[in-house]
Amino acid sequence: MNNFADILKKETLAIHQQVEKTVIQRIKNVNNLDAYKMLLLDFYRFYKSIEDASLPYLEEGNYPHKPNYQRSRKIIDDLMSMGSEAPAISPLKHPDISSLKEALSAIYVLEGSALGGPYIAKMLEKRGIDQSLSFFMGDGEKGMENWQDFRRHLNELPIQENEKQELIQLVKEVFLSFENQLKTS
Ligand code: HEM
Repeated sequence: MNNFADILKKETLAIHQQVEKTVIQRIKNVNNLDAYKMLLLDFYRFYKSIEDASLPYLEEGNYPHKPNYQRSRKIIDDLMSMGSEAPAISPLKHPDISSLKEALSAIYVLEGSALGGPYIAKMLEKRGIDQSLSFFMGDGEKGMENWQDFRRHLNELPIQENEKQELIQLVKEVFLSFENQLKTS
């Protein structure tokens, strides 16, 4: 298999299912806006930490489509629309990111996660949350197009055979860092 995006999908299937289960568990505990804000804060800490570590490499590489990679801003919008202040967070413990390849591999987790967002939004609506869902709603109709675009960029990276395992491991650890946070907060 040479398509790096497909490799990541296959190799992270199990950890995706695990994190999905944990997120669903958390959603089941959302009964009011305060609990929803806590869930958003967890997503914020994860997205903001990975974005801050990754974006400098994307900027350095003059990488296109940057706006998509600042999803944490949408979380701030949602929190503020519920009357919260912009949160100060301590960065999440996550694997080191020190190249464009590592940065895009880490961003794979965030961009992929946005695909699950609309499902999360529906679950939250069923639990009575009817506002401030823009982050989870994601890119709407453009979602799949943006995702295919991102996959294409990922596949254009000149990744050598001997680099793949390390990058797969990094992606798994990025998933795990979120899983750990969701379970401990
Ligand atoms: C209730 C929670 C979630 C649900 C229901 C969900 C659902 C989905 C679905 C349906 C897709 C596939 C979309 C498609 O290809 O048509 C997807 C992809 C993906 N999700 Fe989730 N997701 C959830 C949470 C998460 C979280 C929390 C993360 C990351 C921390 C994540 C990471 C990913 C990634 C990386 C992909 C891309 C897989 C690929 O390479 O095709 N998801 N998700």
